Amino acid sequence: MFEFKPNSDTTKNYELLLKAIESHLEDEGNLIANLANIASFIYTALPDVNWAGFYLAENGLLILGPFCGKPACTRISIGKGVCGTSAQKGEVIVVPDVHAFDGHIACDGETNSEIVLPLFQRGKVFGVLDMDSPVFDRFSQADVDGLTKIANLISRYLEGLA
Ligand code: SME
Repeated sequence: MFEFKPNSDTTKNYELLLKAIESHLEDEGNLIANLANIASFIYTALPDVNWAGFYLAENGLLILGPFCGKPACTRISIGKGVCGTSAQKGEVIVVPDVHAFDGHIACDGETNSEIVLPLFQRGKVFGVLDMDSPVFDRFSQADVDGLTKIANLISRYLEGLA
């Protein structure tokens, strides 16, 4: 249904991934359906990723949203863990070694590195995009650049929702 052939060149792979997500967002208007498929696109397109998904902001908490990977904690307070810190600061956080991050919330014992990107709607943090890897220092500047484009695309899509 959605054909995506991963490319071994990281930058090219992100270009293809961005196009696949863009085209998907044009075809479907349901938020949960779209976030579910975006999580799957990311999880299947990128190597060495054991969790990819969303936490959505609600009453001072981040609540687990659509994801791919092992079951995860369902509620994270804003300001706690990597996700809550990213949501509080409204900043991308790259953690090369989760064991060295004070307050990291471990969901899967195999995870060694993590990246979290905030998503915005009308100037407020709507939630975060979270990815975990079993590989230490998995997320490079090329990943930050590619994933930031994806997060910006999702935020533009969120702007258009009622
Ligand atoms: N590690 C995250 C919790 C979510 S799981 O990685 C899926 C954190 O510290 O916020």
